[in-house]
Amino acid sequence: MPTLPDSPSALGSPARRREGREKVTGAARYAAEHTPPDCAYAWPVPATIARGRVISVDTAPATAVPGVIGVLTPYDAPRLGATDDPTLHLLQDPRVPHRGWYVALAVADTLEGARDAASAVRVGYESDPHDVTLSADHQRVYTPEEANGGHPAHREQGDADAELAAAPVRVDCVYAVGPLHNHPMEPHAAVADWDGGRRHLTVHDSSQGSGLVRSVLAALFKLTEDQVTVVSEHVGGGFGSKGTPRPHVVLAAMASRHYGRPVKLALPRAHLPATVGHRAPTLHHIRLGARTDGTLTALTHEITTHTSRIREFVEQAAVPARVMYAVPALRTTHRVVALDVPTPSWMRAPGEAPGMYALESAMDELAGILGIDPIELRVRNEPRTEPDSGLPFSSRHLVECLREGAERFGWARCREPRREGPYLIGSGVAAATYPVLVAPSTARAHARPDGGYLVEINATDIGTGARTVLAQVAADALRVPLDSVSVAIGHTGLPAASLAGGSCGTASWGWAVHDACTALTARLERHHEPLPARGLSASADTTQSAKQKPPYSRHAFGAHFAEVRVDTVTGEVRVRRMLGVFAAGRILNALTARSQFKGAMVMGLGMALTEHSTMDAVFGDFTESDLAAYHVPAHADVPAIEAHWIDEHDKHLNPMGSKGIGEIGIVGTAAAIGNAFSHATGHRLRELPLTPDRVL
Ligand code: MOS
Repeated sequence: MPTLPDSPSALGSPARRREGREKVTGAARYAAEHTPPDCAYAWPVPATIARGRVISVDTAPATAVPGVIGVLTPYDAPRLGATDDPTLHLLQDPRVPHRGWYVALAVADTLEGARDAASAVRVGYESDPHDVTLSADHQRVYTPEEANGGHPAHREQGDADAELAAAPVRVDCVYAVGPLHNHPMEPHAAVADWDGGRRHLTVHDSSQGSGLVRSVLAALFKLTEDQVTVVSEHVGGGFGSKGTPRPHVVLAAMASRHYGRPVKLALPRAHLPATVGHRAPTLHHIRLGARTDGTLTALTHEITTHTSRIREFVEQAAVPARVMYAVPALRTTHRVVALDVPTPSWMRAPGEAPGMYALESAMDELAGILGIDPIELRVRNEPRTEPDSGLPFSSRHLVECLREGAERFGWARCREPRREGPYLIGSGVAAATYPVLVAPSTARAHARPDGGYLVEINATDIGTGARTVLAQVAADALRVPLDSVSVAIGHTGLPAASLAGGSCGTASWGWAVHDACTALTARLERHHEPLPARGLSASADTTQSAKQKPPYSRHAFGAHFAEVRVDTVTGEVRVRRMLGVFAAGRILNALTARSQFKGAMVMGLGMALTEHSTMDAVFGDFTESDLAAYHVPAHADVPAIEAHWIDEHDKHLNPMGSKGIGEIGIVGTAAAIGNAFSHATGHRLRELPLTPDRVL
């Protein structure tokens, strides 16, 4: 085999993404681009009331539309098997738990026919009074057992109230982050196809993890898992909204089986806010107590959020306060109220993104009161062990990120706010943290007699460059050139692996790939050439190792710096410069990692300045349902961004020594921008986004 004697490590190198050319030339096919012969099209009908039940469905006008195959309603849709996700219990009963809930499905020969038929379905409702308005003193607010991620909802140590009462310096503030929407570039889509005997279901789905889609579809359609194949070969982003199966894939499979034809269902973007999860709004009450030298004596972070009537999801926004600062009295609490709203779910850095906006804004306010540099305030409160658990950190280089960021950003030169004509200029800093997660995965590595290698794993590339980095991990473990390794991902026929979520994809898949390749190397060393015609293979399963609870607190850390320009005439806030420095273990691909950091920083920029969703109290609807109203940053909004990292060596992670990088870039970004705004203007806004109506 063509080993390189000095093992030029492919890991860390800026290898270009393998499918880049296919993607930019349109050759890479996404879920909706698969069109089996005789494919029909489905279009769902969303409820137009916020709470109540369907009492009639008149499908006659819809079935009169040319090319219509049929309309499924709650009265006649096929019955589904059990699932623990009530958002997939579709067309099974007449209940309407929120506006936008699907109440019918039109199926036709063409996309246009399905859409016309869907709009012609006449649904009669009986409405109940609804309540979609979140407030911290809502009468139905409760403290759940757990918040998302399995975190206890409430944690407390020391007597925070007493410490706060005794503290010479206090911050007592309320921050608000409204609902936010994932809006991946590629909306959710699936193409479902049953074989003639309806014994096997094949689905092309836009998903962050086809393995979970397969097991849920198997349960819903009462099949064994090997009767279901799910393919997610190329996925145009998800940001959490494709982390679990969504209604489109269930409805496509249901319609395909019912009508005996392949069915394609691509959700219109306007349906996404109500059907694929959203970041729940969070109200934050933060109190800090400190001595005059900046030493924290008390910290309380209490959040109130909403969930739906059908499923409890609690944005774990107070969790990062358990990790960040040394403080003897620490209380973190989540409260939630079930409203008649769509079910919230994961959105990039659930918990950390809104939580660190609030906490890092409060730290900035404290620095301002004390007249201490905000970086020094954070350095002064560095913990030796994780404050909540008492565990040692496997590695923590937050201070190094802050220091290096300050150096690169020119922090010392930015300490005075400036005025340039009508513009106010200011700078801000904030810290970032994200947990190191890892999930069990399996992989197979294969050596061919021609000197090539194939690595197989059901990983998913949601735009991150998964194929590329896994080839790098494999080449490194095999000690072979990068271009001799092929990688097969995105298909449930491959060895099972975790989803692309929780910033744990590369760590989880890479671990299995590393182990399979290491085992293959050992086999090859024992084997005398030539290899047998079918080559040699080795497999690995990381279930044991990935499930072990480490005696360490494992987190990535980072520091964000931003310079903003506030227009005193129009109230427009623009970010001029953004810079992030991250400590995320070993960076496995300098090119794709930088893109991940920057992409998340852009999403943080959107959270700070433009992304805004309103829950309409009367209609029970998110009013901004397309990209014309829900403003994600466009190129012209994005300034010079720099992403850097610390060369961090951490032996307590995985064989590659990597932490996750997918989400930390959005954590703390909005706080850095908000802090820069306050620096520029002398005013503190405690609600995002910083739009002109709030600024003026
Ligand atoms: Mo991410 S929100 O864990 O897909």
